[in-house]
Amino acid sequence: MCGIFGYTGFRNARNVILDCLKKLDYRGYDSAGIGVINKDELKIFKEIGELGLLEKKLPPIDVNIGIGHTRWATHGEVSIKNAHPQVSCNGDIAVVHNGIIENFKKLKEELEEKGHRFISQTDTEVIVHLIEESYKDSLKDAVFSMIKKIKGSYALAVLSTSEPDIIVGARQESPLVVGIGDNENFLTSDITALLKYTNRVIYLEDGEICVLSKNSVDIFNWNGKKIEKEIHIVDWNVEAAEKGGFPHFMLKEIYEQPHSLHQTLRGRISEIERSISFEDKVESLLDSYPKVVSIVACGTSFYAGMIGKYMIEQLSGIPTFLELASEYRYFGVRDKTSLVVAITQSGETADTLGALREAKNSGCNTMVITNVIGSTATRIADAFILTRSGPEIGVAATKTFTSQIVVLFLLALKLSRKTINPDELSRYLSHLRELPRNVRMVLERSEEILKVAEKIKDSKSVFFIGRGVNYPLSLEGALKLKEISYIHAEGFPAGELKHGPFALLTEKTPVIAIVTMDKTYDKMIANIGEVKARHSPVIAIANEKDSEIEKYADYVIRFPSDSNILSCIPIAVILQLLAYHTANLRGCEIDKPRNLAKSVTVE
Ligand code: F6R
Repeated sequence: MCGIFGYTGFRNARNVILDCLKKLDYRGYDSAGIGVINKDELKIFKEIGELGLLEKKLPPIDVNIGIGHTRWATHGEVSIKNAHPQVSCNGDIAVVHNGIIENFKKLKEELEEKGHRFISQTDTEVIVHLIEESYKDSLKDAVFSMIKKIKGSYALAVLSTSEPDIIVGARQESPLVVGIGDNENFLTSDITALLKYTNRVIYLEDGEICVLSKNSVDIFNWNGKKIEKEIHIVDWNVEAAEKGGFPHFMLKEIYEQPHSLHQTLRGRISEIERSISFEDKVESLLDSYPKVVSIVACGTSFYAGMIGKYMIEQLSGIPTFLELASEYRYFGVRDKTSLVVAITQSGETADTLGALREAKNSGCNTMVITNVIGSTATRIADAFILTRSGPEIGVAATKTFTSQIVVLFLLALKLSRKTINPDELSRYLSHLRELPRNVRMVLERSEEILKVAEKIKDSKSVFFIGRGVNYPLSLEGALKLKEISYIHAEGFPAGELKHGPFALLTEKTPVIAIVTMDKTYDKMIANIGEVKARHSPVIAIANEKDSEIEKYADYVIRFPSDSNILSCIPIAVILQLLAYHTANLRGCEIDKPRNLAKSVTVE
């Protein structure tokens, strides 16, 4: 993981790079660095820790070309030496890199035999020495020669004093986007970093190399042939990527959900025609009913997938398998008659991309549900559905999770078009329409949820329990709480506590019970009773129409709407707010939890 950036143009490159790296530091923030060319000399500045520390260290400097990096360590500890840019022996070439070079050990030995001196423990350093080794009179050619020798994933930006007006970029399995300006050009891991300066972008494909000068952008394919690429206009605005007055991106993104859910649904449902429609490629994939659906994903996206499995099986009856992408890659059953649906907010999670490639290579139809247009996943899969949630900066996924569930529900309805009757479909469509309003009602209860957060904030361990779709929600509630508040938390199917986890319950272990008024209601009440018998405090998340629940639980947080499968959306928002308030009360770094990064581009 890591964020890379390059700038060449008429502005002060030091300032532009720092500014844009701030938008990329969600990709990694254990150290940062920039490299610029000043009067034909390469100047490198690096610092450990957050970007602000590098900013303090950087002298004012009048330069127009440079590269920058925010790091999330993979090879080598967090240190100045291991921070990027990495520099060649002669001090003339600098490289920033996102990805992993798998054969770096062997290459390093060979390069050392040739006299290259390595100063870092990084895999990246072989890149800069390989370029130095093959450099004759063209940086582009040297980069070409280098990429033929390395194996692994990379997005790179390279600078050299021998050609002080250009930046060379290269991409293989890590995101890299060129931003096109007037008299200036950019290179970035993520378009959010560019939006302040331009909304015109070119997405690089695997194996492509770009050469940027202030006035030109040339793209070459793996064989060195110059190619023409489409320029895309991005319609996200800068404000959408800023905090918009909220103390944290996570809170802002939680509050954006009425809007993001509306966006996810926009143009896809028609209550008049009682129909659901997707983009053409998705429609043609769904034209023939798959015999089996396989969902692959990681983390929060995996829990959305788990909810999707319940939805698809319950509505359409199509058997649906769910696999962690990291397991599917190696052990998944790849049946050609199955439709493989990958779910990935970023579209760049290495394990999910690996699973998607495996599925495609095995002849399965593949589809991806993602938030990022132009991401690698959209280019691997046969078809993609965008969640349209807008950029998500907080490391903890929130609005993209609820949008993923909505897309999965639409998919489930679409797959059940032959079995579901029109009245039932109408009812589901109107439940979908109500979602933004129901979420708004939960947001208005934020203060109540804060009061519950005060009760759990000093706990060592918190349990979440539920049945049906409330089980994956319990897993997601626990994940949100642990990742941002650092409280140990676990989610369980409510019926499973008695098979082991009971042993952990004490009067100091709050149990959050998700209770919906469906066929599992009585069983949930019985489970709450079992928990109370162990003296653990119970916080119920319950329907506002449930007049009984107060008798059993110590505290109750209410969600609106009738109990139907879509109640999981307002409940997810309650769980997000509970995690947020708890972490905030504990003074945690909410948008950048320790040891985590937004997009996990390593396996
Ligand atoms: C948790 C979280 C992660 C991601 C996971 C997959 O809040 O955000 O668990 O869900 O890393 O990321 P994507 O969806 O980008 O593939």
